[in-house]
Amino acid sequence: MENITFHDHKPAALSLYDAVVDGLSREDKSIPPKFFYDKHGSELFDKICEQPEYYLPDVERRMLSQLAEEIAELTGRGRVVIEPGAGSASKVRLLLDALRPGAFVPMDISFDYLKSSAMSLAREYPWLPIHAACVDFTHSLPVPKETPKGPRLLFFPGSSLGNFDRNEAGEFLHMVHDVLGDDGMLLIGVDTKKSEVILNAAYNDAAGLTADFNLNLLRRLQRELDADIDPNIFEHKAFYNVKEGRIEMHLISTRQQTLRINGYHFEFEEDESLHTENSYKYAPMEFIDLASESGFNEVRHWVDENGLFAIYLLAVINA
Ligand code: AVI
Repeated sequence: MENITFHDHKPAALSLYDAVVDGLSREDKSIPPKFFYDKHGSELFDKICEQPEYYLPDVERRMLSQLAEEIAELTGRGRVVIEPGAGSASKVRLLLDALRPGAFVPMDISFDYLKSSAMSLAREYPWLPIHAACVDFTHSLPVPKETPKGPRLLFFPGSSLGNFDRNEAGEFLHMVHDVLGDDGMLLIGVDTKKSEVILNAAYNDAAGLTADFNLNLLRRLQRELDADIDPNIFEHKAFYNVKEGRIEMHLISTRQQTLRINGYHFEFEEDESLHTENSYKYAPMEFIDLASESGFNEVRHWVDENGLFAIYLLAVINA
């Protein structure tokens, strides 16, 4: 295929082992949420996205389809579009015909997943130059050298920003600001604050897929680190913490037990939590303030008719 290149930046921060030993040694045990996404975890996440309670992807998709032309009018056509955590690149497809990018740079932590999704995209859009980069976007956003010059648009859908804590979110936006450079723009989907009932249901779907996704982290420790642990004595717990404005996901040990990995012993008390994810929700003004602290001006934002989800188009404040 002629319209595609691949770059493996061998994400240095991929070490599951280091993160687990570090996270389990803390007083409040935790493991960063990026470790959910092995092959099985990514498949489970795709299934979560089909659950009726998990409204985010459906609402965002509908909004992007309706807004594609309006967004293209505001950004102009021919930008280099960069998408960190592109995965199957399904959402950018809703925009490509309207945006007519000069090139597309999908980034993902999983090389195999990136490769297969970039190749199908290249087949579907033969006019689009694609420069795919395997990176851990929580650390860096290296744009491949051969990417054409010209104004950039970074696309970050799915409310993935919500999985950073507030400081990390600010740091990430600063990094995006630097990668975009002058005249750069950011198109980002962010989940809104809303009724606890809706939020709690979204992270406790009736089919049990979010529970499975959470517990898969422990199965991953068994598979990849040969951890001595019984996932059946942990329970999924997810709830909206109103004060912090975030969904918290935990794995709760239902009894006292010891988790062993490579000579390390980690003691769990009965009911002790292993904190696996935060998913921050932002009121539009809160998010716009955060973005402006990181060097962005709002161009426009849209909230769906039920107030469930927001999409923001922001422009780099030129130096
Ligand atoms: C990927 N991320 C935006 C999801 C979220 O809603 O925070 C991950 C997720 N965790 C449980 N369900 C979905």
